[in-house]
Formats: sequence, C-alpha cells, structure tokens
Amino acid sequence: MKYKVFVTREIPDEGIKMLKKASNVKLEVYEHDKKIPRAELKRRVKGADIILSILTEKMDAEIMNAAGPQLKMIANYAVGFNNIDIKEAKLRGITVTNAPNEQGAESVAEHTVALMFALAKRIVETDKFTRAGKYKSWGPQLLLGTDLWGKTVGIIGSGQIGSGVVHRLHNGFNMKVVYTDIKRNPELEKETNAKYHSLAQVLKQSDFVSLHVPLLPSTRHLIGAKQLKMMKKTAFLINTARGPVVDEKALVRSLMRGEIAGAGLDVYECEPLIDCDPNDNLDLRTLQNVVLTPHTASATLETRQAMSRIAAQNILAFVRGKIPPNKVK
Ligand code: DGY
Repeated sequence: MKYKVFVTREIPDEGIKMLKKASNVKLEVYEHDKKIPRAELKRRVKGADIILSILTEKMDAEIMNAAGPQLKMIANYAVGFNNIDIKEAKLRGITVTNAPNEQGAESVAEHTVALMFALAKRIVETDKFTRAGKYKSWGPQLLLGTDLWGKTVGIIGSGQIGSGVVHRLHNGFNMKVVYTDIKRNPELEKETNAKYHSLAQVLKQSDFVSLHVPLLPSTRHLIGAKQLKMMKKTAFLINTARGPVVDEKALVRSLMRGEIAGAGLDVYECEPLIDCDPNDNLDLRTLQNVVLTPHTASATLETRQAMSRIAAQNILAFVRGKIPPNKVK
C-alpha cells in the first residue's frame, strides 16, 4: 500500500528528504512558507492517510471529516499538540504523534534565559534609547537594571526545558532554584540543590518565574491575578510555554500597577494576535517593561531540522507497521 502523506506547510528539508525516499509514501506538501487557508486545507487533506501538521493548524473533527475515513495518522511538527483534538482522534482510531527533541529543549531553554537577560539588563529598551540619540552622558543611575547572579529562579514545570533553564542559571549564574511540578524531580534536586515547593511558595520566593508546562485544562490560566499578586514587585515572569497558561489581561493589569517588574513572552493567549481584545486598552505592546518575541523560542535551524526528522521518523515507523516513537497516549 502507498500512504498519501499531506504536509500542511513547507518545513526544513531533512524530514521531507527521508519521506521522499520511502517507496510506500506518496508525499504532497503545501508548497508555501505561509499558513494554509482553512478552505484549502480542507480541500487538500482529502484522501490523505497521514497529515503532517503544523501547530497553527487546528486538527479537529472538521479536518478529520474533510480528510475522510482512511485518515490513520496525524504527525505534529511540534512538541506541543494542543492544536489536535486528541479525544476525537482516539475515537476514530487515528494515531497522533508529536516531535519532542533534545535540541529543541536546549533552544527553548536558551531563549528563556535570553528573555531573562533582556529584561534584567533592559536590552531592548536601552538599544532603543541609544539608537534614538538619547545617550548624552554616562550617569551612575542611567537605566539601572538588575543582576541574575545569586538571585532565585522559580521554575513551573521541571521537564527537559525547565531543567535546561535551571542548569544554565544555577551553574552559570549561581542562582538558587525553587520549582514546582506535578511530581518531584530528584535528579534536578541532586544536581542543582533545587527546592520543591507549592506554586504559591515558588511565586513568593522567586526573582524570575519561568513557565514550562504544557497547555492542559489544568494549566489554563495557571497564572492569573491572584498568582501575580503573590510575586515580588521586583520579579519577572517569563512564558515560553503556551500563551493561555497566563491570563494575559491580568498580566497587563499587574504590569501596569507595578505589581511585578516585567515580563518576557514568546507565546500569547490569542496567538498570533498579541492582544485578544483591542478595545480594552490592555495591550502588552504599550508597556516598556515587557520583551516580546513571536513564538520563536525553538526557531533555530538545528531544532527545526530535528523536528523535521522526528516527524518523518514517526511517519516512517507507522507506515512500516511499527509503533511510532512519539505516539501521544
Ligand atoms: C513546540 O514545538 O511545541 C513549540 O512551541 C514550537 O516549536
């Protein structure tokens, strides 16, 4: 049998080359590096046995119906899979895979630390200041920031990415580590002297709070008005996980009131919109003390090629009758 595989957007080529070599795969790629319009997606998935999806494409009952009853697998080109209706896929016996990879965890950990530095050292703000010709004289109090050295980092979610952040900050910057998770991480505790606490305690003690949890019903708005009030006035919040983990409007209010010092965000509640409601005057982009990146924490060539290979490996295992290595349970 030949499996028709539809790829919903151009991706880095290594996985594509692997799929092209497989004799039982008939590959079709949406041939643009832009989001496929929904109507075109519905048309193009028709007859597909396997969809290689991007996290911007909602893989719901409508798409599964559009593909047809022969649809057997959805291979996501992402670590997260909150774009896929897992329940619906299970009901239909469709195998779902994601693309977790060590390289990606390192990329996101690096980006998280970069956001911390950008905030603490006011990099974006001072760059704008310098370019605008405002630097007239050195001053002892000019654009004071804060150091990371010796401070406390609070990690919410101690998986690969959270642990990667901790190792960098503990080993490189002598930071104390507090963390919370659904279960303890003895290895992390042993290696970095990380202390396990409740979410409230982590929020209260940390100078930098970094989020590394998947988006689940239990983590939606994990950080809201109440949690933000628990943080130190001098603390920074970093989110490189998923936007809806933070109640974004509550965050804007908290930043405006000076309840926390700043935020570094790579993900947004109504992504790709940066502001869910343009009519309420609560727009992150109006604030000086935020640094915003467009969901690029894993955007390195190394990682995006690794994701391409992993998505292909999952598909190749499936078409060879094996259990794909990253099957979502
Ligand atoms: C993922 O893989 O889930 C990232 O958010 C995008 O690379």
